[in-house]
Amino acid sequence: NRPISQALIIFGASGDLTKRKLIPSLYKLFIQKSLPENFILIGASRTVFTDEQFRTKSTEFLQEEDQNSIEEFKKIIHYQPVQPDNIEDYQKLKGRIDTLCEKKNIEKNLIFYLSTPPALYTIIPKNLAEVGLNKEEGHFSRLIVEKPFGTDLESALKLNQELLSNFEEHQIYRIDHYLGKETVQNLLVLRFANAIFEPIWNRNFIERVEITSAESLGVEKRGGYYDKSGALRDMIQNHLLQLVGLLAMEPPVEVEADAIRNETLKVFKAFAPFTSDEQIKNNVVRGQYISSRIKNEEIKGYRQEEGVDENSRTETFAAIKFYINNWRWSNVPFYIRTGKKLPTRVSEMVIHFKNSPHHLFSGGKELPQINNQLIIRIQPDEGILMKFGMKEPGSGFVTKPVNMNFHYNTLSEKELPSAYQRLLLDCMIGDATLYARGDSVIEAWKFVKPIQEYWKKSDAPIFGYPAGTWGPHEADNLIEGDEQTWRYPC
Ligand code: BG6
Repeated sequence: NRPISQALIIFGASGDLTKRKLIPSLYKLFIQKSLPENFILIGASRTVFTDEQFRTKSTEFLQEEDQNSIEEFKKIIHYQPVQPDNIEDYQKLKGRIDTLCEKKNIEKNLIFYLSTPPALYTIIPKNLAEVGLNKEEGHFSRLIVEKPFGTDLESALKLNQELLSNFEEHQIYRIDHYLGKETVQNLLVLRFANAIFEPIWNRNFIERVEITSAESLGVEKRGGYYDKSGALRDMIQNHLLQLVGLLAMEPPVEVEADAIRNETLKVFKAFAPFTSDEQIKNNVVRGQYISSRIKNEEIKGYRQEEGVDENSRTETFAAIKFYINNWRWSNVPFYIRTGKKLPTRVSEMVIHFKNSPHHLFSGGKELPQINNQLIIRIQPDEGILMKFGMKEPGSGFVTKPVNMNFHYNTLSEKELPSAYQRLLLDCMIGDATLYARGDSVIEAWKFVKPIQEYWKKSDAPIFGYPAGTWGPHEADNLIEGDEQTWRYPC
């Protein structure tokens, strides 16, 4: 079931994403024989390269792989220099596509991947349309747009409108690589292929939901970009809210792009909006890592990172408590948090179930309750963990929390496909289920807008946290109540 014959044109081909993610993913698809039988890849960017130079440069990250396969793979790679604002270059690109397609017997089904700085997200589609490369006459023409999709509500609306004046919604694939992660998709199977979870997946049984995406790395070489972005834009508006959409949505009528995306959109529309600064202050915490010493090693603070303003107030950590105003989730708090330079790299969703209504085994004493939790580990060690109570062996009824732990890697010999592998292949076969639709991206921006506005104010707090810790302790106060804290995965 390989995708039909087509060509993939990557703009921003000389950039890091192409080298680190796209080419390695395409290579994996190539050796698995998942790419179309007749397929070419054309790299396009400002720099002038020959095909051969680009082949060498773009496959730099494949050193460890089998050399013969790399040589075979290189044969599908081509290059065409394009100045993004020079219409003649698009004519030349069109000519090159025509020639290569004819020579290699490839149908003119085209995917354009925008892996460029966001400033070019409108100019490239406009110029593609100008030379007729957006047309779908008997063949498809699709556009993959990388994040960030805008920097706030207004810019996202404008970008959407401009894209839609040159391509139609069904041609636009807004990539959110979190949706391509295997365990994120597995959430759908867990919820809707098993009869035991769905009946309790609501306010009657669930006490709260927690989603964490922690990274141990800092901003590395991306200080310049990150300082203008911050955790809210970089991780929450897109990745984490999309996860909430899948976790909280109603069952779709079928597994089909719009059926699923209609349901996640309803979730975004039901987010209880923040309506005052006070509310934001009490429910949203931002932090920035400061220098620290770990195992005798001095760790730089964020403000000392390359490309970062020395007085920066950009958040490298953010945590939000919010509600979804609908029948299923009324009064169930959702907690999401993300940060850089935290103690470990882990992404997971935790469903905390309500306690049993009657404490039968406490013998009248105040004993800690068994807190049933379902933990969906997105990465690393993809899997699902269920925590529940059992009797300790011996006399009496002493209860003890135990784990039922499923590790995804025990399921098959198959290596888990990377998110980009999965998403590239989906676009090639025309399945947009795991791509964000324009209306949901806009709703997500609407939700974060009051937070963005509040944080622009000079008196809006930002808390420091030592690099290598779990963020500012103010974030702990978001979770109220006895014996409740965030889960601290190790
Ligand atoms: C990207 C962000 O979208 O996601 C990065 O721009 C972040 O800042 C990355 O590091 C995290 O992705 P993953 O797949 O490593 O969790």
